[in-house]
This record gives sequence, structure tokens and C-alpha cells, in this order.
Amino acid sequence: MGKNVYVGMAADLLHEGHTNILKIAASHGDVTVGVLTDKAIASYKRLPFMNYNQRKALVEQIKGVMRVVPQETLDYEPNLREYRPDIVVHGDDWKTGVQKKVRQKVIDVLAEWGGELIEPTYTAGISSTLLNQALKEIGTTPGVRLQALRRLIDAKNVVRVIEAHSGLTARIVETAEAEYKGKKRQFDAMWSSSLTDSTARGKPDNEAVDISSRLVTVNDIFEVTTKPMIFDGDTGGRIEHFPYMVRSLERTGVSAVIIEDKIGLKQNSLYGTDVMQTQDDPENFCQKIKAGKAAQVTKEFMIIARIESLILEKGMDDAIARAHAYVKAGADGIMIHSREKTPDEILTFCEIFRASYPDVPLVVVPTSFNEITDEELGRAGVNVVIHANHLLRSAYPAMVKTANSILANDRSFETDEMCLPIKDILNLIPQRV
Ligand code: SPV
Ligand code: MG
Repeated sequence: MGKNVYVGMAADLLHEGHTNILKIAASHGDVTVGVLTDKAIASYKRLPFMNYNQRKALVEQIKGVMRVVPQETLDYEPNLREYRPDIVVHGDDWKTGVQKKVRQKVIDVLAEWGGELIEPTYTAGISSTLLNQALKEIGTTPGVRLQALRRLIDAKNVVRVIEAHSGLTARIVETAEAEYKGKKRQFDAMWSSSLTDSTARGKPDNEAVDISSRLVTVNDIFEVTTKPMIFDGDTGGRIEHFPYMVRSLERTGVSAVIIEDKIGLKQNSLYGTDVMQTQDDPENFCQKIKAGKAAQVTKEFMIIARIESLILEKGMDDAIARAHAYVKAGADGIMIHSREKTPDEILTFCEIFRASYPDVPLVVVPTSFNEITDEELGRAGVNVVIHANHLLRSAYPAMVKTANSILANDRSFETDEMCLPIKDILNLIPQRV
């Protein structure tokens, strides 16, 4: 009997590096491939382009692969204990970087039964990171983009979202990257905020910007990005009109719409009770949710119901009663909003809500209660955190400062240090051809 050989891989963008590893693995014995699940991959890098079942089906067809099993964590230990391989094969590129610790654990666990790690030289000149960059150049399709949000919610502890209101701000969301606790991270998705889309047009956030104009912004954004979008649908309009909003968003490739349970002239929630705001009757709002769900064409599009009870000081019981009603009406998720300085009432809502609905996606917008981290919100049961207005809010003071400086100095020389150098802005958006 051949030796038992194990190979773990994401197998998303298959290239000759993968087939090389599998060929070497097969030369040592019977190959079991642990294909990393979406969750395992999303724990250390971007969500794969293909879902687990698609990747599994591909690997099964590769010569020399005896069976494919799911590898649920980046950590190999659970699968190593289950399959007790004599040999593990992995490219030598994991000796450095995020996988360094994972590699050490493989060596330690294999040592328990005298197993061996074989590390062929990494195939130079090709990598999934390079292919990923090339794919970003090619772009995405409305269908692939639409489905990405549900996959992210399934795969990630918390989905990080930030507003975009133009092609340029969306490019920032597409590419911004920072290191947190030793791992690189990016935003997962974009929020088309009614507040920032309206403000960027010099208009108030009261549905004065109609859906056609809002869709122009979405299209501008989609032309230059690949990440999924959650759309702020305000009240969703009249029940009779909401289905058209759903269809238009879906056709464009938006993943989800969030509608709030208010009627009449919509005002921004963060005004709270300082302005006249009327909450919709729950029955009526349920009818709107149902009309939207009946209209959608894909199964992946999400209609998320936003509860304004805490904003309008109607109390926790009202918020919870509405959550029950909206989920029953078919809402794919709940957004609970608050304008308190602390997250206490949001955390209370999460606890009560999660007790009844362990799996219904929960969305929050921590604008006023922003000392709490995304990770902490994730631990409290939140699936999606939206940073709803921060790119516009940070850009505006900078622009006002520059304008005032030119007036006060009668020239622009003093603004040079506040401005992107001309060379950089010329190259910020590269020409495609
Ligand atoms: C928006 O970004 O437009 C929102 C969130 O609806 S909030 O401004 O907090 O109401
Ligand atoms: Mg809004």
C-alpha cells in the first residue's frame, strides 16, 4: 500500500504551482487534498473567487488526487489528526509570512507519529496573488459581485464595510490595506450611504436625490471596483415602488438593500428626536418587505430591515417586537441603529436577538458609539459593521482648509504640503491602454 500523503490548498486560482505540488505528492503515495473552506481562507486573506464546492470539484479532476476533504481551518492540526498522513507536501514559500506558525505546527504534529514534511521549491513567476491582481484588472460580473456578500457573511466573523460615494472613494475602499495583529486586512464591501451620496451632491439626506441618481453613483463605482455593495435604500419609498428599486439594484449587481421603518419625509436618523420623524406601522413595513422579496429575481439578493425604535426612543421592547415581525415577513437580515454614545443598547439588542435567531445576519452602524471595535461587535453577534460616512467626513475639512488657505494667502503655495503632489495625482488612476 502507498503512503498516505496530505496536501492542503485553497485551490482558487489553479496554476502550474499547484499541479507541480500535486505531482510530487502523487509520486510519494495516495494523495488526500484538504481544500480550505471559504471560512478558513477568509481568516487570513481575501475570500476566494470560487466557492468551496466549485474548488473541490476542480481538484477532484486532477490526476493523482485520490480524495478531497474539507480543511475547515488554516491550522492543519484537526485534519492531520483525522487522516494521520505519513507525508505532508507544501511549497517552501510558507517558511515566511502569515503561514510560518501554521508550518511549525504541521512539523510538530507530524513528529508525533514520525510523519514527514516535504517542501518543494515554490514555482517562481506565478502565484495566486499575481493572478488575483490580474483578475482585478479584468473586473467582475454583476452576478459574482451580488453573491459575494452572502459568502462573506458566511465566511467571516465580521464583515467590514465603509461608505463610498464616487469612483474615487470606491477605489480607496477597493485598495485600502492595513496590518492588524500581524495580518493584512482590507475592507470587505462598500456602503452606498444616502447621507454621503446626497451630501456629495450638495443636497440634504431626505430622499431629494432620487433612485435614478443614486444608481448613477452605483454604476460609477461598479465601473472601477470589484467589491460587493450594500445600498442604503432609505425608506424604500411606497410599497408599490419598492419592487422596482429591488429589481434595479439586483440587475446592477448590488448585494443588499437596507430599508428603514420610517414614513413621510425621511430625515437622517442621527437627528433623532430633534426633527419630525415618523416610524412606520410594523404591519405596513412588513408588507413592504414582502413586496420586495416577491420581486427579487436571484436567491442571493438580501433585503435587510432597519429598525429605528432606539433612534426614536420607542424602547427595546418595540425594537425586539419589530425584529420578530420583520424576520417573519421575510427580511434577510436586521439592522439595528442607535445614536447613543455607548454601545450598551446595541449590545443588549444583539443578545436578545441572537437568543431567538442564531443565524439571521445582524448589521450595525457604529457612528456615535465608535469606541467599540469591529471585532468586539463581531463577538457580540454582529455580522456586518458599516462605517457609514467617514471618507466624506474626513475629506470635507481638508478641502475647506485648502480653499480658505488660498484665499488667506492670495496664492496656493501654502497648500502644497496639504495636497497630493501633481505627479501622484497624474498617476493615481492609470490609463488602461
Ligand atoms: C447613511 O449613511 O445614510 C445612513 C446611516 O443611513 S445614518 O447616517 O447613521 O443614518
Ligand atoms: Mg441613510
